[in-house]
Amino acid sequence: MSRFYITTPIYYVNDEAHLGHAYTTTMADVLTRYHRLYGYETFFLTGTDEHGQKAQQAADKKGMPVQDYVESVAPRFQDLWKKMNISNDDFVRTTEPRHTKVVQDVLQRIYEAGLIYSDSYEGFYEVSDERFLTDKEMEEKGYTKDSPEVVFLQEKNYFFKMSQYQDWLIQHIEANPNFIRPEGRRREILGFLKQPLGDLCISRPKSRMSWGIDLPFDTDYVCYVWFDALLNYISVLLDKGGDEELNKWWPESHHLIGKDILMVHAVYWPTMLKAAGYEPPKSLIAHGWWLIDSAKMSKSKGNVIKPLELMDRYGIDAFKYFLVRDMSLGLDSNFSEKAMVERMNSDLANDFGNLLNRTHKLLVKSFDGVVPEPGAGGELEAELKALGEKTLATVKEHVLEFKLHAALEEVLQLVRRANKYMEQTEPWKLAKTDLNAMGTVLWHVLEIFRLAATLLSPVIPGKVENLLTQLGLDQNNLELRWGALPPGTRAGEAQVLFPRHEYKEVTDMENTETKPEQTAVAEAPKAEATAESKPEAQAAGQPEAAEAEPDNLIGIEDFAKVQLRVAEVLEAERVPKTDKLLRLIVSLGDEKRQIVAGVAAYYEPEQLIGKQIVVVANLKPVKLRGIESHGMLLAAKSEGKLSVMTPLGEVATGAAIS
Ligand code: ME8
Ligand code: MG
Repeated sequence: MSRFYITTPIYYVNDEAHLGHAYTTTMADVLTRYHRLYGYETFFLTGTDEHGQKAQQAADKKGMPVQDYVESVAPRFQDLWKKMNISNDDFVRTTEPRHTKVVQDVLQRIYEAGLIYSDSYEGFYEVSDERFLTDKEMEEKGYTKDSPEVVFLQEKNYFFKMSQYQDWLIQHIEANPNFIRPEGRRREILGFLKQPLGDLCISRPKSRMSWGIDLPFDTDYVCYVWFDALLNYISVLLDKGGDEELNKWWPESHHLIGKDILMVHAVYWPTMLKAAGYEPPKSLIAHGWWLIDSAKMSKSKGNVIKPLELMDRYGIDAFKYFLVRDMSLGLDSNFSEKAMVERMNSDLANDFGNLLNRTHKLLVKSFDGVVPEPGAGGELEAELKALGEKTLATVKEHVLEFKLHAALEEVLQLVRRANKYMEQTEPWKLAKTDLNAMGTVLWHVLEIFRLAATLLSPVIPGKVENLLTQLGLDQNNLELRWGALPPGTRAGEAQVLFPRHEYKEVTDMENTETKPEQTAVAEAPKAEATAESKPEAQAAGQPEAAEAEPDNLIGIEDFAKVQLRVAEVLEAERVPKTDKLLRLIVSLGDEKRQIVAGVAAYYEPEQLIGKQIVVVANLKPVKLRGIESHGMLLAAKSEGKLSVMTPLGEVATGAAIS
């Protein structure tokens, strides 16, 4: 059986987990789930990096003993991953004996092999970075001997003979093009290795910093935190089952990391392994950074995005979908909540959610909720099958190259194609004329939906079970082939999986306030009642009105308060969780409006798109099902049918009606 071993960095405990940490961990989780779907045996490791100066300083700041401090912080990461439905197989903490034991074993082994020596060292030491600076670095950073960032240290330390592996390392990177991905990062490391590689200081005297793992051969020293931390990737395996367990997973090991820590992973780590008698990991994948206003997110800049808040607001699966979809492997990505909401709405609520809603509804209406037998189909159906099969193949290719953003885009293209197929075939019309043809269309759309749901299941695992129930399928039906949808399956209840979200920027609200023509002049009738249930004619000029009581009469000045205009429907879609409402985007010529109208029982969204209608343009905005409606369309109702008003002749969109 093929295997897949993936790790995240083990995160420092001096910081709260933020969007960046959530991103790497989500990517590793999604990659693991894809590999499971493809039949791989998988192992997914994450954890916390608890030694070193950063932890010590954070504890000091809180006035806590450092051991207590790390005990209190590590569970925060564990809890977050649990909440995010992360499926890691193990969680390593570097303060655990199972880890420290391996670190000491490795140190002792390479010490005995003569690969560690002691030397006295003096120079400027940068406290925040926990390392000695060269004269050149001092100059570049603008430090002098009096700068508070550095201290002059003169001390004896232990050094690992890293330099002797330089040629071997270059050769390894050149011979294995996939060892460092993406390619640009690989070239960066090769460039770095053109200069002579020094030896690595792997000790810290306890007199200066004692929070670490004792060097087995000199207990006045603790191990340098990076040397300790990197070993987590093998310590868990060695502890679990010795060399056998390591040999089982190591040939298929992948370290997913941010580009900030590529150098240590690409240079220190393989040489450490080599010295200890192990092979390098199979690959390093360095992703880019999430930026806020083009700056890297960091606690010190005070610009961190807290994943929990976003998840609570938008849902775990939608949040993860956004993270995976919106960062291309290796590139940086600017985070904006607005972009996130747009992505969730367009991909999940509209494209994906709509496909299910529309089909489910037709299935229940015309086939009693039972998946129909497809007919032979024609060119369109053959095209869909080919596209479905191509999508299956391409998604897998992207996943194996760690290009998850591209994999998701493939799936969404398939979904959009299915939505278009609905428009091309208009199954709601076939309901009356040709049930067999309608059945063929619905089966094809449902099969695409099943495939798409299966291919998205690693990203939105929480939702997919729910989705499949709506189709009457179970989790075991995640078959990765075209045609696996069995006719005769009975669909379950329809549910809204991904609600649309509103994102209001402060500037938007200011705009509304400064546009007097958009504010209402009179108390608006309750739009829900108006749109959904007001009986009889909703148009102006009702014939009955003239014969009614005299005090029902209005003067022309009252009528003039109502601004009626011709609008063109640009977009239309069902509002989740109700059978009555459509959300329309209409053009008034000079502006676009969102209107929620109670016509869904009478019109399919696509019947209205491109049509001119009549709207009351100066109604006070109201919210229906949480969606703002800026106006109302006019429709006449008779004998239980409803007809939307439209101009008889040609008029410009936006024209005033009087
Ligand atoms: O470096 N965008 O831990 P750390 C994307 N303990 N990813 C980000 C990010 C951002 N803005 N900020 C952080 C350490 N990350 C060491 C690792 S491994 C043996 C030891 C992610 O808490 C990204 O994966 O600083 C980055 O590499 C990692 O968090 C750094 O986490
Ligand atoms: Mg960091």
